[in-house]
Amino acid sequence: MNRPNVFPEDFLWGGATAANQFEGAWDVDGKGPSVIDGLTCSRDMKERFSGTGDYYPSHVGIDFYHRYKEDIALFAEMGFSIFRLSIAWTRIFPNGDETEPNEAGLAFYDKVFDELGKYGIEPLVTISHFEMPQYLVDHYGGWKNRQLVDFYVRFATTLFERYKGKVKYWLTFNEINMATFIPQISIGSVADEGENPEEVMYQALHHQFVASALATKEAKLIDPTNQIGCMIAYAPVYPLSPKPEDIFTAMQKEEEKHFFTDVQVKGYYPDNKLAYFAEKDIHIEAEQGDEEILAAYPVDFISFSYYSSGAASFEETGKKNNGNAMISEKNPYLKESEWGWAIDPLGLRTSLNTLYNRYQVPLMVVENGLGAVDEVVDGKIHDDYRIAYLREHIEAMRDAIVKDGVDLIAYTSWGCIDLVSAGTGEMAKRYGFIYVDRQNDGSGSLNRLKKDSFYWYKDVIASNGTEL
Ligand code: BG6
Repeated sequence: MNRPNVFPEDFLWGGATAANQFEGAWDVDGKGPSVIDGLTCSRDMKERFSGTGDYYPSHVGIDFYHRYKEDIALFAEMGFSIFRLSIAWTRIFPNGDETEPNEAGLAFYDKVFDELGKYGIEPLVTISHFEMPQYLVDHYGGWKNRQLVDFYVRFATTLFERYKGKVKYWLTFNEINMATFIPQISIGSVADEGENPEEVMYQALHHQFVASALATKEAKLIDPTNQIGCMIAYAPVYPLSPKPEDIFTAMQKEEEKHFFTDVQVKGYYPDNKLAYFAEKDIHIEAEQGDEEILAAYPVDFISFSYYSSGAASFEETGKKNNGNAMISEKNPYLKESEWGWAIDPLGLRTSLNTLYNRYQVPLMVVENGLGAVDEVVDGKIHDDYRIAYLREHIEAMRDAIVKDGVDLIAYTSWGCIDLVSAGTGEMAKRYGFIYVDRQNDGSGSLNRLKKDSFYWYKDVIASNGTEL
Protein backbone atom coordinates (compact mmCIF):
# COMPACT_ATOMS: atom_id res chain seq x y z
CA MET A 1 0.00 0.00 0.00
CA ASN A 2 1.38 3.38 -1.00
CA ARG A 3 1.49 6.12 1.57
CA PRO A 4 2.58 9.64 0.59
CA ASN A 5 5.83 10.88 2.09
CA VAL A 6 4.79 14.49 1.55
CA PHE A 7 1.47 16.32 1.20
CA PRO A 8 -0.68 14.54 -1.40
CA GLU A 9 -0.57 16.08 -4.86
CA ASP A 10 -4.20 17.16 -4.78
CA PHE A 11 -3.95 18.71 -1.32
CA LEU A 12 -5.96 21.94 -1.18
CA TRP A 13 -4.13 25.03 0.13
CA GLY A 14 -5.80 28.31 0.89
CA GLY A 15 -7.26 30.71 3.40
CA ALA A 16 -10.48 31.30 5.32
CA THR A 17 -12.82 34.21 6.04
CA ALA A 18 -16.40 34.90 7.13
CA ALA A 19 -18.85 37.33 5.55
CA ASN A 20 -19.56 39.33 8.70
CA GLN A 21 -15.86 39.80 9.41
CA PHE A 22 -14.75 41.10 6.04
CA GLU A 23 -17.50 41.97 3.56
CA GLY A 24 -18.73 45.21 5.12
CA ALA A 25 -21.59 46.73 3.07
CA TRP A 26 -23.79 45.62 5.95
CA ASP A 27 -26.95 47.35 4.69
CA VAL A 28 -26.23 47.46 0.96
CA ASP A 29 -28.34 45.92 -1.85
CA GLY A 30 -31.13 44.82 0.44
CA LYS A 31 -29.05 43.13 3.14
CA GLY A 32 -30.74 42.91 6.53
CA PRO A 33 -28.98 43.17 9.94
CA SER A 34 -27.41 40.02 11.35
CA VAL A 35 -26.68 39.19 15.00
CA ILE A 36 -23.14 40.47 14.63
CA ASP A 37 -24.05 43.85 13.15
CA GLY A 38 -25.05 45.19 16.56
CA LEU A 39 -21.73 44.30 18.21
CA THR A 40 -19.02 46.83 18.96
CA CYS A 41 -15.29 46.50 19.58
CA SER A 42 -13.90 45.52 22.98
CA ARG A 43 -11.53 42.96 24.47
CA ASP A 44 -14.09 42.56 27.20
CA MET A 45 -16.46 39.99 25.68
CA LYS A 46 -19.38 41.12 27.82
CA GLU A 47 -18.94 44.67 26.64
CA ARG A 48 -18.59 43.60 23.00
CA PHE A 49 -21.71 41.48 23.10
CA SER A 50 -23.73 44.17 24.84
CA GLY A 51 -22.97 46.52 21.93
CA THR A 52 -21.62 49.30 24.19
CA GLY A 53 -20.31 52.16 22.06
CA ASP A 54 -21.19 53.49 18.65
CA TYR A 55 -18.60 51.92 16.35
CA TYR A 56 -19.70 48.71 14.66
CA PRO A 57 -16.73 47.00 12.96
CA SER A 58 -18.80 44.65 10.80
CA HIS A 59 -20.49 47.53 8.99
CA VAL A 60 -17.45 48.25 6.83
CA GLY A 61 -15.35 45.17 7.63
CA ILE A 62 -12.49 45.38 5.17
CA ASP A 63 -14.91 46.18 2.34
CA PHE A 64 -14.45 42.89 0.48
CA TYR A 65 -17.90 43.56 -0.96
CA HIS A 66 -16.43 46.23 -3.22
CA ARG A 67 -12.84 44.95 -3.42
CA TYR A 68 -13.34 41.25 -4.03
CA LYS A 69 -11.58 41.32 -7.40
CA GLU A 70 -8.40 42.83 -5.97
CA ASP A 71 -8.45 40.44 -3.00
CA ILE A 72 -9.09 37.31 -5.04
CA ALA A 73 -6.27 38.31 -7.39
CA LEU A 74 -3.96 38.42 -4.36
CA PHE A 75 -5.16 34.98 -3.21
CA ALA A 76 -4.49 33.67 -6.70
CA GLU A 77 -1.02 35.21 -6.64
CA MET A 78 -0.28 33.19 -3.50
CA GLY A 79 -1.43 30.10 -5.40
CA PHE A 80 -4.60 29.30 -3.42
CA SER A 81 -6.47 26.26 -4.65
CA ILE A 82 -9.28 26.72 -2.11
CA PHE A 83 -10.86 29.74 -0.46
CA ARG A 84 -13.25 29.53 2.49
CA LEU A 85 -15.94 32.18 2.77
CA SER A 86 -19.40 32.31 4.24
CA ILE A 87 -22.62 33.53 2.71
CA ALA A 88 -24.32 36.27 4.71
CA TRP A 89 -27.78 34.79 5.35
CA THR A 90 -29.16 38.35 5.53
CA ARG A 91 -28.05 39.16 1.96
CA ILE A 92 -30.16 36.29 0.69
CA PHE A 93 -33.05 36.40 3.19
CA PRO A 94 -32.80 39.79 4.97
CA ASN A 95 -35.19 38.78 7.77
CA GLY A 96 -34.75 35.05 7.43
CA ASP A 97 -38.41 34.08 7.12
CA GLU A 98 -39.14 35.34 3.59
CA THR A 99 -40.22 32.82 0.96
CA GLU A 100 -38.38 34.54 -1.91
CA PRO A 101 -34.65 35.32 -1.86
CA ASN A 102 -33.08 38.71 -2.51
CA GLU A 103 -31.70 38.58 -6.05
CA ALA A 104 -29.05 41.25 -5.44
CA GLY A 105 -27.54 39.16 -2.66
CA LEU A 106 -27.45 36.02 -4.77
CA ALA A 107 -25.90 37.96 -7.66
CA PHE A 108 -23.05 39.19 -5.46
CA TYR A 109 -21.92 35.64 -4.65
CA ASP A 110 -22.25 34.66 -8.30
CA LYS A 111 -19.69 37.34 -9.08
CA VAL A 112 -17.40 36.13 -6.29
CA PHE A 113 -17.60 32.48 -7.38
CA ASP A 114 -17.02 33.44 -11.02
CA GLU A 115 -13.97 35.44 -10.01
CA LEU A 116 -12.61 32.49 -8.01
CA GLY A 117 -13.38 30.22 -10.94
CA LYS A 118 -11.27 32.44 -13.21
CA TYR A 119 -8.23 31.43 -11.17
CA GLY A 120 -9.25 27.83 -10.58
CA ILE A 121 -9.84 28.43 -6.87
CA GLU A 122 -12.34 26.04 -5.29
CA PRO A 123 -14.81 27.80 -2.96
CA LEU A 124 -15.46 26.26 0.44
CA VAL A 125 -18.71 27.79 1.65
CA THR A 126 -19.88 28.06 5.24
CA ILE A 127 -23.65 28.36 5.10
CA SER A 128 -23.98 29.88 8.56
CA HIS A 129 -21.04 31.58 10.28
CA PHE A 130 -22.27 33.47 13.39
CA GLU A 131 -24.43 35.75 11.20
CA MET A 132 -28.06 34.65 11.47
CA PRO A 133 -30.68 37.33 10.82
CA GLN A 134 -31.33 39.50 13.87
CA TYR A 135 -35.01 39.34 12.92
CA LEU A 136 -35.07 35.61 13.67
CA VAL A 137 -33.79 36.34 17.16
CA ASP A 138 -36.21 39.19 17.82
CA HIS A 139 -39.31 37.54 16.36
CA TYR A 140 -38.71 33.82 16.80
CA GLY A 141 -36.30 33.56 19.73
CA GLY A 142 -33.50 32.10 17.62
CA TRP A 143 -32.65 28.42 17.22
CA LYS A 144 -34.65 27.19 20.18
CA ASN A 145 -37.64 27.67 17.87
CA ARG A 146 -38.23 24.71 15.54
CA GLN A 147 -39.31 27.03 12.73
CA LEU A 148 -35.66 27.98 12.27
CA VAL A 149 -35.07 24.54 10.76
CA ASP A 150 -37.38 25.35 7.85
CA PHE A 151 -35.92 28.83 7.35
CA TYR A 152 -32.38 27.46 7.31
CA VAL A 153 -33.20 24.59 4.96
CA ARG A 154 -34.88 27.05 2.56
CA PHE A 155 -31.78 29.25 2.71
CA ALA A 156 -29.41 26.32 2.16
CA THR A 157 -31.53 24.86 -0.66
CA THR A 158 -31.59 28.24 -2.39
CA LEU A 159 -27.78 28.23 -2.32
CA PHE A 160 -27.43 24.63 -3.56
CA GLU A 161 -29.73 25.35 -6.48
CA ARG A 162 -28.26 28.70 -7.41
CA TYR A 163 -24.58 27.75 -7.14
CA LYS A 164 -24.84 24.24 -8.55
CA GLY A 165 -21.70 23.60 -10.58
CA LYS A 166 -19.87 26.50 -8.91
CA VAL A 167 -19.61 25.25 -5.34
CA LYS A 168 -18.94 21.67 -4.30
CA TYR A 169 -17.69 21.94 -0.69
CA TRP A 170 -20.14 23.19 1.97
CA LEU A 171 -20.00 23.52 5.75
CA THR A 172 -23.39 23.66 7.42
CA PHE A 173 -22.59 25.58 10.64
CA ASN A 174 -19.38 27.27 11.70
CA GLU A 175 -18.02 25.92 15.00
CA ILE A 176 -21.32 24.36 15.99
CA ASN A 177 -19.95 23.66 19.48
CA MET A 178 -19.57 27.40 20.14
CA ALA A 179 -23.20 27.40 21.31
CA THR A 180 -21.70 26.55 24.68
CA PHE A 181 -19.47 29.63 24.78
CA ILE A 182 -21.07 32.36 22.64
CA PRO A 183 -24.77 31.50 22.36
CA GLN A 184 -25.71 35.07 21.36
CA ILE A 185 -24.19 34.71 17.88
CA SER A 186 -24.21 30.95 17.58
CA ILE A 187 -27.81 30.00 18.37
CA GLY A 188 -29.33 33.44 19.03
CA SER A 189 -31.32 32.01 21.92
CA VAL A 190 -31.35 32.81 25.59
CA ALA A 191 -33.38 31.14 28.28
CA ASP A 192 -36.58 32.92 29.26
CA GLU A 193 -37.60 33.09 32.88
CA GLY A 194 -38.29 29.62 34.20
CA GLU A 195 -36.38 27.93 31.38
CA ASN A 196 -33.27 25.85 32.03
CA PRO A 197 -30.44 27.52 30.04
CA GLU A 198 -28.75 24.21 29.32
CA GLU A 199 -31.96 22.66 28.08
CA VAL A 200 -32.52 25.68 25.83
CA MET A 201 -29.03 25.31 24.40
CA TYR A 202 -29.40 21.61 23.67
CA GLN A 203 -32.85 22.20 22.17
CA ALA A 204 -31.41 24.85 19.85
CA LEU A 205 -28.56 22.50 18.96
CA HIS A 206 -30.97 19.68 18.22
CA HIS A 207 -32.64 21.98 15.71
CA GLN A 208 -29.28 22.81 14.16
CA PHE A 209 -28.38 19.12 13.90
CA VAL A 210 -31.68 18.36 12.16
CA ALA A 211 -31.29 21.40 9.90
CA SER A 212 -27.77 20.33 8.97
CA ALA A 213 -28.93 16.79 8.14
CA LEU A 214 -31.86 18.05 6.07
CA ALA A 215 -29.58 20.47 4.23
CA THR A 216 -27.24 17.55 3.50
CA LYS A 217 -30.19 15.63 2.09
CA GLU A 218 -31.13 18.55 -0.21
CA ALA A 219 -27.53 19.12 -1.26
CA LYS A 220 -27.21 15.53 -2.44
CA LEU A 221 -30.57 15.58 -4.22
CA ILE A 222 -29.67 18.75 -6.09
CA ASP A 223 -26.15 17.64 -6.97
CA PRO A 224 -24.81 14.25 -5.86
CA THR A 225 -21.24 15.56 -6.19
CA ASN A 226 -21.79 18.04 -3.35
CA GLN A 227 -19.57 17.36 -0.33
CA ILE A 228 -20.89 18.45 3.04
CA GLY A 229 -18.85 18.95 6.18
CA CYS A 230 -19.51 19.73 9.80
CA MET A 231 -17.29 22.31 11.46
CA ILE A 232 -16.22 22.42 15.07
CA ALA A 233 -13.85 24.45 17.20
CA TYR A 234 -11.29 21.87 18.21
CA ALA A 235 -8.86 22.17 21.08
CA PRO A 236 -7.59 18.94 22.61
CA VAL A 237 -7.92 19.05 26.38
CA TYR A 238 -4.95 17.60 28.28
CA PRO A 239 -5.07 16.47 31.88
CA LEU A 240 -3.07 18.98 33.90
CA SER A 241 -1.43 16.13 35.83
CA PRO A 242 -1.43 12.31 35.79
CA LYS A 243 -3.87 12.32 38.72
CA PRO A 244 -6.71 9.99 37.75
CA GLU A 245 -9.21 12.74 38.63
CA ASP A 246 -7.53 15.15 36.21
CA ILE A 247 -7.44 12.50 33.50
CA PHE A 248 -11.11 11.80 34.02
CA THR A 249 -12.00 15.52 33.90
CA ALA A 250 -10.02 15.98 30.69
CA MET A 251 -11.72 12.93 29.17
CA GLN A 252 -15.12 14.41 29.98
CA LYS A 253 -14.17 17.66 28.28
CA GLU A 254 -13.03 15.73 25.23
CA GLU A 255 -16.37 13.93 25.13
CA GLU A 256 -18.28 17.22 25.40
CA LYS A 257 -16.60 18.21 22.14
CA HIS A 258 -17.02 14.85 20.46
CA PHE A 259 -20.74 14.98 21.15
CA PHE A 260 -21.02 17.31 18.17
CA THR A 261 -19.04 15.17 15.77
CA ASP A 262 -20.73 12.01 17.04
CA VAL A 263 -24.15 13.38 16.09
CA GLN A 264 -23.06 14.83 12.76
CA VAL A 265 -20.77 12.04 11.60
CA LYS A 266 -22.15 8.92 13.26
CA GLY A 267 -25.73 10.18 13.04
CA TYR A 268 -26.90 9.60 16.60
CA TYR A 269 -26.67 11.02 20.12
CA PRO A 270 -23.93 9.23 22.11
CA ASP A 271 -24.96 7.30 25.23
CA ASN A 272 -22.87 9.53 27.48
CA LYS A 273 -24.94 12.55 26.44
CA LEU A 274 -28.24 10.73 26.90
CA ALA A 275 -27.08 9.72 30.38
CA TYR A 276 -26.14 13.33 31.07
CA PHE A 277 -29.58 14.54 29.95
CA ALA A 278 -31.23 12.03 32.28
CA GLU A 279 -29.03 13.04 35.20
CA LYS A 280 -29.67 16.76 34.66
CA ASP A 281 -33.35 16.35 33.91
CA ILE A 282 -32.88 17.82 30.44
CA HIS A 283 -35.64 17.03 27.96
CA ILE A 284 -35.20 17.66 24.27
CA GLU A 285 -38.29 17.90 22.15
CA ALA A 286 -37.67 15.91 19.02
CA GLU A 287 -40.21 15.40 16.27
CA GLN A 288 -41.08 12.00 14.96
CA GLY A 289 -38.57 11.13 12.29
CA ASP A 290 -35.70 13.26 13.67
CA GLU A 291 -33.65 10.24 14.67
CA GLU A 292 -34.02 8.76 11.19
CA ILE A 293 -33.04 12.08 9.59
CA LEU A 294 -29.86 12.33 11.66
CA ALA A 295 -28.97 8.73 10.85
CA ALA A 296 -29.72 9.01 7.13
CA TYR A 297 -27.78 12.20 6.32
CA PRO A 298 -24.45 12.37 8.12
CA VAL A 299 -21.73 14.67 6.82
CA ASP A 300 -19.07 13.57 4.34
CA PHE A 301 -16.10 15.10 6.11
CA ILE A 302 -15.09 16.86 9.31
CA SER A 303 -13.66 20.35 9.25
CA PHE A 304 -12.35 22.13 12.29
CA SER A 305 -10.60 25.21 13.57
CA TYR A 306 -7.42 24.74 15.54
CA TYR A 307 -5.63 27.54 17.36
CA SER A 308 -4.53 26.08 20.68
CA SER A 309 -4.95 23.28 23.16
CA GLY A 310 -6.48 23.39 26.61
CA ALA A 311 -5.84 21.73 29.94
CA ALA A 312 -8.21 20.48 32.60
CA SER A 313 -7.93 19.68 36.26
CA PHE A 314 -10.36 18.34 38.80
CA GLU A 315 -9.52 21.12 41.24
CA GLU A 316 -9.54 24.80 40.32
CA THR A 317 -5.99 26.12 39.96
CA GLY A 318 -6.96 29.76 39.51
CA LYS A 319 -4.50 30.01 36.60
CA LYS A 320 -6.25 30.21 33.27
CA ASN A 321 -5.55 30.79 29.64
CA ASN A 322 -7.94 31.81 26.90
CA GLY A 323 -8.24 30.17 23.53
CA ASN A 324 -10.99 30.84 21.06
CA ALA A 325 -13.66 31.69 23.65
CA MET A 326 -12.76 28.60 25.70
CA ILE A 327 -11.17 29.23 29.05
CA SER A 328 -9.00 26.40 30.36
CA GLU A 329 -6.34 25.69 32.95
CA LYS A 330 -2.96 27.20 32.19
CA ASN A 331 -0.55 24.68 30.67
CA PRO A 332 2.90 25.57 32.09
CA TYR A 333 4.67 23.96 29.13
CA LEU A 334 3.24 26.22 26.44
CA LYS A 335 3.87 29.78 25.34
CA GLU A 336 0.91 32.01 24.64
CA SER A 337 -0.06 34.59 22.05
CA GLU A 338 -0.60 38.19 23.03
CA TRP A 339 -4.27 37.32 23.52
CA GLY A 340 -3.41 34.48 25.93
CA TRP A 341 -4.03 31.61 23.48
CA ALA A 342 -1.65 28.69 24.13
CA ILE A 343 0.56 27.86 21.14
CA ASP A 344 0.78 24.12 20.59
CA PRO A 345 1.59 22.77 17.10
CA LEU A 346 1.82 19.17 18.32
CA GLY A 347 -1.72 19.60 19.63
CA LEU A 348 -2.81 19.90 15.99
CA ARG A 349 -1.23 16.54 15.17
CA THR A 350 -2.92 15.08 18.23
CA SER A 351 -6.27 16.51 17.12
CA LEU A 352 -5.90 15.14 13.60
CA ASN A 353 -5.10 11.70 14.99
CA THR A 354 -7.96 11.70 17.46
CA LEU A 355 -10.53 12.79 14.90
CA TYR A 356 -9.35 10.51 12.13
CA ASN A 357 -8.96 7.43 14.30
CA ARG A 358 -12.36 7.97 15.86
CA TYR A 359 -14.34 8.75 12.68
CA GLN A 360 -12.35 7.56 9.62
CA VAL A 361 -13.63 10.33 7.35
CA PRO A 362 -11.59 12.96 5.46
CA LEU A 363 -10.55 15.99 7.48
CA MET A 364 -10.03 19.66 6.67
CA VAL A 365 -8.27 22.18 8.88
CA VAL A 366 -10.33 25.24 7.96
CA GLU A 367 -8.99 27.71 10.52
CA ASN A 368 -5.57 28.08 12.08
CA GLY A 369 -3.30 31.02 12.64
CA LEU A 370 -1.75 33.53 14.98
CA GLY A 371 -3.62 36.69 15.92
CA ALA A 372 -0.87 39.28 16.40
CA VAL A 373 -0.20 43.00 16.21
CA ASP A 374 1.68 43.92 13.03
CA GLU A 375 3.85 46.95 12.57
CA VAL A 376 4.28 48.63 9.21
CA VAL A 377 7.87 49.81 8.78
CA ASP A 378 8.70 51.59 5.53
CA GLY A 379 5.78 49.96 3.82
CA LYS A 380 6.82 46.45 4.91
CA ILE A 381 5.57 44.01 7.54
CA HIS A 382 8.14 41.57 8.83
CA ASP A 383 5.85 39.02 10.45
CA ASP A 384 8.36 36.27 11.16
CA TYR A 385 6.35 35.34 14.32
CA ARG A 386 3.39 34.44 12.11
CA ILE A 387 5.59 32.45 9.73
CA ALA A 388 7.08 30.53 12.68
CA TYR A 389 3.61 29.68 14.03
CA LEU A 390 2.26 28.54 10.66
CA ARG A 391 5.41 26.61 9.75
CA GLU A 392 5.19 24.50 12.89
CA HIS A 393 1.51 23.82 12.38
CA ILE A 394 2.01 22.83 8.74
CA GLU A 395 4.81 20.48 9.86
CA ALA A 396 2.39 18.96 12.34
CA MET A 397 -0.15 18.38 9.54
CA ARG A 398 2.52 16.82 7.35
CA ASP A 399 3.53 14.45 10.14
CA ALA A 400 -0.10 13.51 10.73
CA ILE A 401 -0.50 12.65 7.04
CA VAL A 402 2.85 10.97 6.47
CA LYS A 403 3.67 9.33 9.79
CA ASP A 404 0.20 8.74 11.22
CA GLY A 405 -1.81 8.01 8.07
CA VAL A 406 -4.41 10.72 8.59
CA ASP A 407 -6.60 11.58 5.59
CA LEU A 408 -6.26 15.36 5.66
CA ILE A 409 -7.37 16.94 2.40
CA ALA A 410 -7.26 20.72 2.89
CA TYR A 411 -5.82 23.59 4.89
CA THR A 412 -7.29 27.08 4.97
CA SER A 413 -5.48 29.32 7.42
CA TRP A 414 -7.72 31.79 9.22
CA GLY A 415 -8.02 35.40 8.12
CA CYS A 416 -5.71 35.05 5.11
CA ILE A 417 -6.40 38.74 4.67
CA ASP A 418 -6.65 40.85 7.86
CA LEU A 419 -10.24 41.06 9.04
CA VAL A 420 -12.35 41.95 12.06
CA SER A 421 -11.83 39.69 15.09
CA ALA A 422 -14.92 37.68 15.99
CA GLY A 423 -14.07 37.61 19.68
CA THR A 424 -13.17 41.26 20.21
CA GLY A 425 -14.15 43.20 17.07
CA GLU A 426 -10.56 44.44 16.84
CA MET A 427 -8.64 44.98 13.62
CA ALA A 428 -5.38 45.01 15.58
CA LYS A 429 -5.63 41.25 16.08
CA ARG A 430 -4.34 40.34 12.65
CA TYR A 431 -4.02 36.89 11.09
CA GLY A 432 -3.44 37.77 7.45
CA PHE A 433 -0.79 37.34 4.80
CA ILE A 434 -2.25 40.58 3.46
CA TYR A 435 -2.29 43.65 5.66
CA VAL A 436 -5.35 45.90 5.51
CA ASP A 437 -4.97 49.51 6.57
CA ARG A 438 -7.90 49.63 8.93
CA GLN A 439 -7.57 50.32 12.65
CA ASN A 440 -9.59 49.51 15.77
CA ASP A 441 -11.40 52.86 15.68
CA GLY A 442 -12.39 52.50 12.02
CA SER A 443 -9.71 54.82 10.64
CA GLY A 444 -7.42 53.85 7.74
CA SER A 445 -7.37 53.80 3.96
CA LEU A 446 -8.38 50.09 3.61
CA ASN A 447 -5.39 49.69 1.27
CA ARG A 448 -3.90 46.21 1.00
CA LEU A 449 -0.19 45.45 1.58
CA LYS A 450 1.66 42.13 1.24
CA LYS A 451 3.37 40.96 4.44
CA ASP A 452 6.56 38.83 4.48
CA SER A 453 4.30 35.85 5.19
CA PHE A 454 2.58 36.44 1.83
CA TYR A 455 5.75 35.51 -0.03
CA TRP A 456 6.51 32.67 2.36
CA TYR A 457 3.05 31.08 1.97
CA LYS A 458 3.32 31.44 -1.81
CA ASP A 459 6.49 29.30 -1.70
CA VAL A 460 4.85 26.81 0.66
CA ILE A 461 1.99 26.31 -1.78
CA ALA A 462 4.22 26.26 -4.86
CA SER A 463 6.35 23.52 -3.27
CA ASN A 464 3.26 21.68 -1.97
CA GLY A 465 4.46 22.07 1.59
CA THR A 466 8.02 20.85 1.10
CA GLU A 467 9.57 24.32 1.46
CA LEU A 468 8.69 25.58 4.87
C1 BG6 B 1 -13.17 31.16 15.25
C2 BG6 B 1 -14.21 31.75 14.35
O1 BG6 B 1 -13.79 31.02 16.48
O2 BG6 B 1 -12.01 31.84 15.54
C3 BG6 B 1 -13.76 32.95 13.55
O3 BG6 B 1 -14.78 30.80 13.50
C4 BG6 B 1 -12.81 33.79 14.41
O4 BG6 B 1 -14.88 33.64 13.14
C5 BG6 B 1 -11.59 32.94 14.75
O5 BG6 B 1 -12.45 34.98 13.83
C6 BG6 B 1 -10.51 33.67 15.51
O6 BG6 B 1 -11.04 34.30 16.64
P1 BG6 B 1 -10.82 35.83 16.90
O7 BG6 B 1 -11.60 36.13 18.11
O8 BG6 B 1 -9.36 36.00 17.10
O9 BG6 B 1 -11.32 36.55 15.71
